[in-house]
Amino acid sequence: MDYEKLGQEATARIAGADSLDMLETLRVEFLGKQGSVSALLKTLGGMSPDERKETGPKIHGLRETVSDALASRKADLEAAAMEARLASETVDLSLPAPEQAAGTVHPVSQVMDELAEIFADLGFSVATGPEVEDDWHNFTALNMPESHPARAMHDTFYFGEDRVAPNGGRMLLRTHTSPVQVRTMLERGAPLRIIAPGRVYRSDSDATHTPMFHQVEGLVIDRDIHLGHLKWTLETFLKAFFEREDIVLRLRPSYFPFTEPSVEVDVGFAVETGPDGKARRVLGGSGDEPGHAWMELLGSGMVNARVIEFAGLDRAEWQGFAFGVGVDRLAMLKYGMDDLRAFFDGDVRWLRHYGFSAFDQPTLSGGVGARA
Ligand code: PHE
Repeated sequence: MDYEKLGQEATARIAGADSLDMLETLRVEFLGKQGSVSALLKTLGGMSPDERKETGPKIHGLRETVSDALASRKADLEAAAMEARLASETVDLSLPAPEQAAGTVHPVSQVMDELAEIFADLGFSVATGPEVEDDWHNFTALNMPESHPARAMHDTFYFGEDRVAPNGGRMLLRTHTSPVQVRTMLERGAPLRIIAPGRVYRSDSDATHTPMFHQVEGLVIDRDIHLGHLKWTLETFLKAFFEREDIVLRLRPSYFPFTEPSVEVDVGFAVETGPDGKARRVLGGSGDEPGHAWMELLGSGMVNARVIEFAGLDRAEWQGFAFGVGVDRLAMLKYGMDDLRAFFDGDVRWLRHYGFSAFDQPTLSGGVGARA
């Protein structure tokens, strides 16, 4: 048998294979279990030693020729496929931008950016914490021990008993951003000036409540901090956020386990008729003026000394204030949406209407809420 000729024929057919699939078919035809070259190799067993000495190298040579040809054709075909892919997937960066931008920035993201910008100017940095939280950070360290009635007010989503926190407590979806206060004090110590925006969860659902919503926490820890600092900070923040000087706040005594004293903050507003003919609330002015009223906006207070202790700081040296406010609520008031559920429907028509251009970065100098 002319093994050399067999080799040449196989090599020619392999070189002619124009796809990886075809090449695989050829590999099976020659070198597969039932392949023609494999069959030749099997004949070696039935040969006399002399015959094998002469024919063996030829058959092994044939096998090598075929497998080399397969490998080299495979490399060529793969390189060609890569070339074709690179050619078809190029992006022409010289093309003009599409006339209509395809996506918009969600109002919640926009408001969070605005808040970060406003508070950065006051020396606050942005802190974060996990949404899957443990009992201790969400409640206990915030002065809500196991039996505390305030726990029941939070409509908490708990994980099953099989999921236990490293500290032995139950796991839950955080019901507020306040656990970030504790985490940040533990991690960074004092003094501190942070805001902590993020998602929070409560088992509650209607036109003004969704099971997931957004809050921003504020925390200042330093020496000699008092309620005056809290009031000034909130006033400065709200004036910058709503872009009006006539924002008036009313502080009312309230109760949160993690602040002492606790202060509920109301803001004055009037009802005006919008361009769409619908009545809407516009912030500004004292709620005691004719045609005005007060609306509850946020919770705050001086950080309870128990919380300072839980967070590992010396309560004789450090004190501070904290506040928590709904981000979605802030967005609705500033940009005039009336149904919270639409925030999370993912309806592109709503997003197109209420969304913001990605190029419209909020800056203090340019106006934090400038609409393109
Ligand atoms: N965590 C409180 C809530 O979700 C708000 C709050 C934060 C109150 C900080 C006081 C201080 O209702």
